[in-house]
Amino acid sequence: MFSFPLILLFSIVLIAGTLRKLLRRCMQQQPDVFPASTGLPPCSVPYHPIYGHMCDIVSSPDSARFKSVFVDHANSSGLSTLWYLNAPCIGVLKAEHAKFVLRNSIERTGATMILRHFKKVLGQDSIVMIDCGESSKELWRTHRNLIKVGFTKNAVNNMANKVWQVANGFTSSLLRECAKNDLGTKQGSYCAEAADIFKWATLDIFGKVAFNYNFGCTDSLSTTPLAHSLNYTLEDSNTRCKAANLLNPTYQLYCLPTKRNRDYKHHRQNVQDLLKEICQQRAQEINNQNKVPEDHTNQPKKDDLLTILLKSKLESQGAKRDDTYDELVEMLLTVFFAGYDTSSVLLSMVMWSIATNPSIQQECAMEAQDASSTSSQKEPSLHEDASQWESRLAFCRAVILETLRLHPPVTLNSRVFNKDVKLDGCTIPKRTRVYLPITQIHTDERNFARPTEFLPERWVRKNATTDRWLARDFKTEPSFVENDLAYIPPANPQYVLTFSDGARNCIGHRLALQESTMIFACVVRDLTVNVPKGFVMQKRKKFALAPPVEMPLIFRRREKQS
Ligand code: HEM
Repeated sequence: MFSFPLILLFSIVLIAGTLRKLLRRCMQQQPDVFPASTGLPPCSVPYHPIYGHMCDIVSSPDSARFKSVFVDHANSSGLSTLWYLNAPCIGVLKAEHAKFVLRNSIERTGATMILRHFKKVLGQDSIVMIDCGESSKELWRTHRNLIKVGFTKNAVNNMANKVWQVANGFTSSLLRECAKNDLGTKQGSYCAEAADIFKWATLDIFGKVAFNYNFGCTDSLSTTPLAHSLNYTLEDSNTRCKAANLLNPTYQLYCLPTKRNRDYKHHRQNVQDLLKEICQQRAQEINNQNKVPEDHTNQPKKDDLLTILLKSKLESQGAKRDDTYDELVEMLLTVFFAGYDTSSVLLSMVMWSIATNPSIQQECAMEAQDASSTSSQKEPSLHEDASQWESRLAFCRAVILETLRLHPPVTLNSRVFNKDVKLDGCTIPKRTRVYLPITQIHTDERNFARPTEFLPERWVRKNATTDRWLARDFKTEPSFVENDLAYIPPANPQYVLTFSDGARNCIGHRLALQESTMIFACVVRDLTVNVPKGFVMQKRKKFALAPPVEMPLIFRRREKQS
């Protein structure tokens, strides 16, 4: 019933748009991306007549094509110029420049054809989808203010015990699987795909801290039906956004009666129903509690994310119940979406980092065992008070920071200015898109010493008296020591842009650091981690933020250190 005329119309619109761009590009007389008067460097990287450098910048961040645009052809200040379709753009490599850009603009522009798929899943007003142009700034601010109360330092500290519990449950399941293959030798191993198991762990943590719900993936080490629905809706959007599918109506039109569309609707409905039901139940509980005088309430205090969001939403003027549930579902989905792929990719890359650095793995294991042991220590173990994780797991945290620096899950960020701006003596014309290639910024010598080496010690040093690792202070420690070639200079944490910077930075960065350090510490405390011999790491590029990695991990029970 939709078939031919609709598909034909859709294809004609797409082809006409593409031809228009091609004509414009062919008629373009100007050889440089920007006029010389701006002071911006010319671009000598060859470009496609229609796409410009678009295909280069959507390729893997480790690829020669990507580096060619942003690094090889940058000027001495790290500035480069490029075409995204027929729009002139700028790339920056110096962390100081990137910070300036992020702190002075909140606007991002994205391809409408791609964003519309995520908007369908997350909602039209989802904070991650708002471009923050003049007309949507206020909407973004309202949503941001609402969500950020759930991620204050205090709120995330309150989540620590739940996160620690899930992390311990996860390792127990891994140990159980190793024991199944044990055959009495205590050498049993368990092999699993990194992306899968860390998605399960991230999902279970989200369920627990967001609304005290058990998705059950880490217990069973498999995907449960609801977890599958959540994962399906996000993966489906990613697939529909792939360049190869952008001209294919069966991927672009949701009204076609295809299996893909039916599955999408089924899983989306499952997710919506679950979240709405949880929101309604919680609102009821809050309502009931409000009716009971505080002293007589025997209910345990629920300090999960949903309660915080719901209270703040219901308190806000004129909030109507029905709209409130829809908005809350949108917020929960957004938060889940923002932290799901990103955190699981980070954990996969941490495993890669320690599997290829056995001495670092050993150091992490010793620290994690010490932090979990309940005997002899005056301070509480993490089993008693998980909120102490930052000081008790300082080295593990440094390994996470170093992984975030070398393998950031979000590899490219961008901003647009709504007026002409001066940067390093050059003029960035109004409405120009400025790209921040995060991996390249983090591996540039101008920003970090020995930039391509994996050195957790740039973040921590050992206290000789206590034999404990402590955070380093780059402001007071020297950047070099004469005649000490092995000296590792301290790193400037402000130059790590993995969680972005400025008013639009990552709301969940505290939770992301906390959960990844805890999962990592529990795994390395109880198990050894290896990759198969001869395995070569390959990061692929997926549209939505995180570059997925495919990596089998081999776990074995770790003997306790004496
Ligand atoms: C390793 C894990 C994570 C990484 C690398 C990461 C990175 C980022 C980045 C780069 C942005 C874009 C900021 C910008 O436009 O400049 C962002 C935004 C955001 N992140 Fe994260 N994130 C992670 C985990 C999380 C988690 C766990 C949550 C919540 C549970 C979260 C919630 C958000 C939200 C809500 C935004 C939108 C902020 C806005 O547009 O104002 N993220 N994140």
